[in-house]
Amino acid sequence: MQTELSRKLGVEHAVFGFTPFPAVAAAISRAGGFGVLGAVRYTAPDDLKRDLDWLDAHAGGRPYGLDVVMPAKKVEGVTEADVEAMIPEGHRQFVRDTLARYGVPGLAEGEASGWRITGWMEQVARTQLDVAFDHPIKLLANALGSPPADVVARAHDRGVQVAALAGSARHARKHQEAGIDIVVAQGYEAGGHTGEIATMVLTPEVVEAVDPLPVLAAGGIGSGQQVAAALTLGAQGVWLGSIWLTTTEADLHSPALTRKLLAAGSGDTVRSRALTGKPARQLRTEWTDAWDDPAGPGTLPMPLQGLLVAEAVSRIQKYEVEPLLGTPVGQIVGRMSSERSVQAVLDDLTRGFEKAVDRINRIAGRSGQS
Ligand SMILES: Cc1cc2nc3c(=O)[nH]c(=O)nc-3n(C[C@H](O)[C@H](O)[C@H](O)COP(=O)(O)O)c2cc1C
Repeated sequence: MQTELSRKLGVEHAVFGFTPFPAVAAAISRAGGFGVLGAVRYTAPDDLKRDLDWLDAHAGGRPYGLDVVMPAKKVEGVTEADVEAMIPEGHRQFVRDTLARYGVPGLAEGEASGWRITGWMEQVARTQLDVAFDHPIKLLANALGSPPADVVARAHDRGVQVAALAGSARHARKHQEAGIDIVVAQGYEAGGHTGEIATMVLTPEVVEAVDPLPVLAAGGIGSGQQVAAALTLGAQGVWLGSIWLTTTEADLHSPALTRKLLAAGSGDTVRSRALTGKPARQLRTEWTDAWDDPAGPGTLPMPLQGLLVAEAVSRIQKYEVEPLLGTPVGQIVGRMSSERSVQAVLDDLTRGFEKAVDRINRIAGRSGQS
């Protein structure tokens, strides 16, 4: 699965893997793909430093990258406490009532809830960059919007390629104007924040819009046949997120959640604002149903919703309250039916890709004769 871009970046396969887990990122890079570690959950720079040091020691000297969440809109001088104060009491009560209905226990005294908004704030993303640039990262990806010009310049000074996710051709062109090197065209099927256009439609639109910039196709890709389809649509590679969640290297901290993912079909996700306030595809649960129910109070805008539900989500995860337990994941969850190593996923992608290419060659050969 080689392309011009994979050769340029020095990887065997044009398969980029987004993951929140350092062990998965290292395994993707070791297996010949390009591991990209998600930084949003690192609110303390020292934790990110520890994990990037670990990645340096375990990625086998292969290239890897970091994904930060730098929102396009800059919020100056706003603290988490300011945002807390903006949350209506009715919404807090709705959270309390919903948790009580399912008998969800509280956290222990002083136990921090894992999910904070701070990783979404530009000042935090900037401290993450300071740490990241002290490590040999080869790619910096930005999730929400174009990275600021000074960040692009800083990355380029260090020979780091810059990527950004786009859900429409218009977004992709903005990224191109911001001077980035690679556009990730992420379709509606994808896990996490998504736009409204499917990968099949989005990829060729973005490829045309930003030509000659290389494009990675993302969203709904989990087989080699789909990798071949993405390259056929003009992509220079693929960017996969969901598929790694059920690998043996992933650390979801919840056997119940892993079981739910393995059992889920492709129709068991929903694009909901329940987690962050922006539409994000995730496992459909009784928690997302409660938020999406017109009889409820409705979700708050980002970053209020994320802060409102942070503690609740931690409690649901800690106590594995199955009806409410979920995670961002895309429609490809329907193919994630057994726990496999990252290497096994890569091997499967390679085999499927070769089969697809053979098949197309056969078809083309036959049509050539007719
Ligand atoms: C659990 C999970 C968390 C994600 N978090 C982020 C994130 O923090 N930053 C980001 O750029 N993309 C994030 N994404 C989206 C991925 O980068 C990727 O675009 C997407 O997973 C691709 O579609 P797929 O899920 O169908 O493979 C996340 C995806 C998942 C499944």
